Order: sequence, then structure tokens, then C-alpha cells
Amino acid sequence: MKLTVDLSHSSYDIIIQKGLLNYLSKEISEVFKGKKIFILTDKNVDKFYGDRVFKELSDFGYDTNKLVLEAGEETKSFFTLPKIYDELLNFKLTRSDLIITLGGGVIGDLGGFVASTYLRGIPFIQVPTTLLAQVDSSVGGKVGIDLDRGKNLVGSFYHPKKVIIDPEVLKSLSDRVFNDGMAEVIKYGCIKDKEFFDKLMKYKDKEEVMNNIEYIIHNCCKIKKEVVEKDEKDTGERMLLNFGHTIGHAIEKYYKYNKYTHGEAVAIGMYEITKISEASFETEKGTADIIKNILIKYNLPYKLDIALNEIKETISLDKKNINNKLNLIFLNKVGESKIVQRDSL
Ligand SMILES: NC(=O)c1ccc[n+]([C@@H]2O[C@H](COP(=O)([O-])OP(=O)(O)OC[C@H]3O[C@@H](n4cnc5c(N)ncnc54)[C@H](O)[C@@H]3O)[C@@H](O)[C@H]2O)c1
Repeated sequence: MKLTVDLSHSSYDIIIQKGLLNYLSKEISEVFKGKKIFILTDKNVDKFYGDRVFKELSDFGYDTNKLVLEAGEETKSFFTLPKIYDELLNFKLTRSDLIITLGGGVIGDLGGFVASTYLRGIPFIQVPTTLLAQVDSSVGGKVGIDLDRGKNLVGSFYHPKKVIIDPEVLKSLSDRVFNDGMAEVIKYGCIKDKEFFDKLMKYKDKEEVMNNIEYIIHNCCKIKKEVVEKDEKDTGERMLLNFGHTIGHAIEKYYKYNKYTHGEAVAIGMYEITKISEASFETEKGTADIIKNILIKYNLPYKLDIALNEIKETISLDKKNINNKLNLIFLNKVGESKIVQRDSL
């Protein structure tokens, strides 16, 4: 399956196919004519796919190098950058060479940021390996790093030359990381696609989800790319993708990023914000319960286990606020969303 992201200044393809990791070089050679490829990955991903990808590229004739970083959000840090730039320089990577990010959202965001800054920008290709990265972070061009004072505080909009998605790699994910990605999948259904939401509700088990995974990823990327094409820089419609994220981010921060994963926090955020919007008659009655049921089905949390007041302060500092107004995403009903500005929650 193929999608094309069409932007005013560039365009690139997203290819989704089981087993694609075996044909990586062929896919790469369609958009990259150089010789040198630098693979950025993390220890967990390297264990499963590092050697295989390195060999496939080398056998094809690419001069290949690989840097394996520690796994986890701590790696997406300002302090990791010098080490990476150093390795790129040691390998004599130039602007006519290529970086490949082989990993989840951490490696994709970090590697994309490195690609956007090293030698003032060199081409890169995303090979996302978590469900979250395949349906969300690898598409749309947001790349960046965390600072001590907060997540994603430094970054840029910098698009890959291609996004190569092999859903087979999801088989090595833990159930928790897989379900984490399902929260974002469910989000797409909530904001834009009732029919998709209903299908997700009907799948019997993980096996049935995996049998339909190419379709699922394709549908999510299609929704994301259509939104990004209309509003690349996130000042209008792209904000719809933040459904559940305002409360979600605040929960992550409250628990110092160690109780809930991002997807789990977003799951709680989607349910809680819908309870609020339902109470103020902005959302069709019963919608919060529908969301609760799908979250339970995918083993995701839905209930805020602290008083909303505890996170109100953090919510008011959300960086998505514009002109001191809180931009909240409400559903009219499942499949239809809107941006609502409020002074507070
Ligand atoms: N750029 C964007 O638009 C965007 C959107 C959403 C999230 N993000 C960012 O994405 C990051 C989270 O991404 P994530 O959830 O993918 O986290 P992650 O990259 O940390 O991956 C989660 C875990 O899964 C492991 N892993 C990855 N692929 C694997 C595989 N195939 N098999 C076994 N283990 C594997 C990783 O080593 C890690 O331990 C956050 O930093 C977030 O800010 C960015």
C-alpha cells in the first residue's frame, strides 16, 4: 500500500507492506542515489533487526554504518546530540548521503532532528518500528528533542524522503507498547472516521488486528497526511490530532513520565475530555461511554486516578495554548471533532 504526502515544498511516499524490511535497499534506491547510509537505532530494535538491516543494505552495495543508542525517552535528549554528530563526522557523512532512523518515535524524532541540523540538513528515511511510530510520529515532519525542562521543546519541521513501514516488526513489541500505539489508532477513529472506529470495536483479538494491520496503518497515515497537507505547521486543523493530548500530557508530567506511557495517558485524556464536553452539551450523549468501552477492549486505562484540579495548572501551561487561550479538541460525536477555545478547563 502506498500514500503520498503532498506539501507545497516537497512530497514523499509512505510505503506499507509486510516483509518490507527484506527489500529496504530497493525502496531506498528509488529516492536516494548516493552510496553512504548511516543507520540510527536503539538497543532493543538492534537486537531484533540491526544485523539484518545492516546486511541487507551492505549486500546491496551501500557503504553502511550503524549507531546503537540506549532505548527510552532519556535518549531523545540534547545531550545525546554531540555523540551522534561525532559519529556522523567520523563516518564522513556528507549532504549527498543518507540517515535511516530504524526505531520507534524516540529514534525517529531524534534522528530526524539530527538530519535536519547536521551540515544544515541531510536527507533521511524513516523506518518506524513501533505501532505509534508507524501510525503517527514518522509521518508529518515533526522532529525534535527533549530538554530537562520539558519534552519536545527544541525541534523543527523536517520531512523524510520516504517512510518505509513493515508491520511484521510489530510482532516483537511487548503487548503494552503495542496497545500504547492502539490508543493513537483509536484517536484517529474518534476524530475523523466512525466506520474505522466501529471496525476497531469489532475485531475479536490481537490476531484479528494483526490480520488487518496494513489496512489499519494505511487508514491512520491517510488521515494524518490529509490533515498535515492542510496545516503542516500546526496552527489550525492539525490541532485535531491532539484529541486527548492536553489532559494526557498533563498526566504524563504529573507522574514524571513513569506511571503511564504516552498512549495510556492519551487514552485517559480522550475519555476525560469527552466526559467534560458531554457535560457541557458539546458532545452527543453516550460518547464518553463508547470511548470507555473501546479503551477497555484494548487494555488501555480510561479513568483519571487523581483529581482534575491536580493537573489544571499544568494544563494551563500547555505549549499548545495560543494567546492565553486553551485549544481543546472536542468530539461532536465519534468520527467528528472540532477545536474549541477556552480560558480554562
Ligand atoms: N513526531 C511526532 O509527530 C510524534 C508524534 C507522537 C509521538 N512522538 C514521540 O514519539 C516518542 C514515543 O515513541 P514510541 O512510543 O515509539 O517510543 P520508543 O521509541 O521509546 O519505543 C518504545 C519501546 O519499544 C522498543 N521497540 C521499538 N520497536 C521495537 C520492535 N519492533 N520490537 C521490540 N521493541 C521495539 C524501543 O526500544 C522502546 O523500548 C516520544 O518521544 C514522543 O514525543 C512524536
